[in-house]
Amino acid sequence: MTQESLKADIKALLKERKAVLLAHNYMRDEVQEIADITGDSLALSMEAAKTDAEVIVFCGVHFMAESASILAPDKTVLLPRLDAGCPMADMVSADELKKLKAQLPGVPVVTYVNSSAAVKAESDICCTSANALKVVQSMTEKEIIFAPDKNLGSYVARFTDKKFHLWEGYCPTHERLRPEVVKELKAQNPGAPFVCHPECNPAVVALADHVCSTTGMYDYCKKSDAKRFIIGTEAGILWRLKRENPDKEFILASPALICPNMKLTSLEDVHEALVSMSPVVKVPEEVRIPAKRALDRMLAIPR
Ligand code: 13P
Ligand code: SF4
Repeated sequence: MTQESLKADIKALLKERKAVLLAHNYMRDEVQEIADITGDSLALSMEAAKTDAEVIVFCGVHFMAESASILAPDKTVLLPRLDAGCPMADMVSADELKKLKAQLPGVPVVTYVNSSAAVKAESDICCTSANALKVVQSMTEKEIIFAPDKNLGSYVARFTDKKFHLWEGYCPTHERLRPEVVKELKAQNPGAPFVCHPECNPAVVALADHVCSTTGMYDYCKKSDAKRFIIGTEAGILWRLKRENPDKEFILASPALICPNMKLTSLEDVHEALVSMSPVVKVPEEVRIPAKRALDRMLAIPR
């Protein structure tokens, strides 16, 4: 089957199944192209919460499909590749988090959405890279546990006087970007803003002209007068950046900025998921209810 007929079949199946296709900004170009909605983790969670489709085809990684299942329990959530996980999310388990909470009684837990539903269920509130600072500022306590991303946590900590107990997790994809490489690119491209994701190492973040979520990058690059940008996040972001800004140039800061998990989902996988109506991601009620509390508390904070 050609890509074009595969895309046409997927569109027809989406209609037939009353399904909506949500795709994260890091997905393969051709998957973003057929998505009903592309976005960052926060935007996709919000879509999942409000859609009136009966089926959500989540093109992203496992924790994102879990969030959709938590927020929309009456919908069928399909994750075309069940093996698309997130190594950062796997760096914290609910049991490990419980142990730390026992050592720090009364200290609330702020958890990055890049985490399992079971970890969210042990958390007071969730955050994404787009709202992490607002979420932390909404807490009245002077100390917080921040899990699992130590890079995002230490970036946010700079803007508050709260004491952070940082979990030792990180994103292996963003961590591969080294400061020396960025310095060299900046020297070669004077005047080109370096825009990076807060999952990058603090030594890389320190070199940034702008630090933001993936959606924040689209906004920043569109509004900026600059004609060339150095991009410090996963390569999938380039597709929409180029499409929305045909007169601008985007340099990926490193060819290593590719998340193997985000690249797993192909058009064939999406097609197969819609035909077989599987794999389904469903969070059990005893985990879903407390996890939803943490997500709802986050979603109540205006974007
Ligand atoms: P955002 O979409 O929140 O910027 O997320 C980055 C990410 O690494 C998702 O896995
Ligand atoms: Fe996880 Fe990093 Fe991949 Fe996002 S880019 S899914 S945080 S490994």
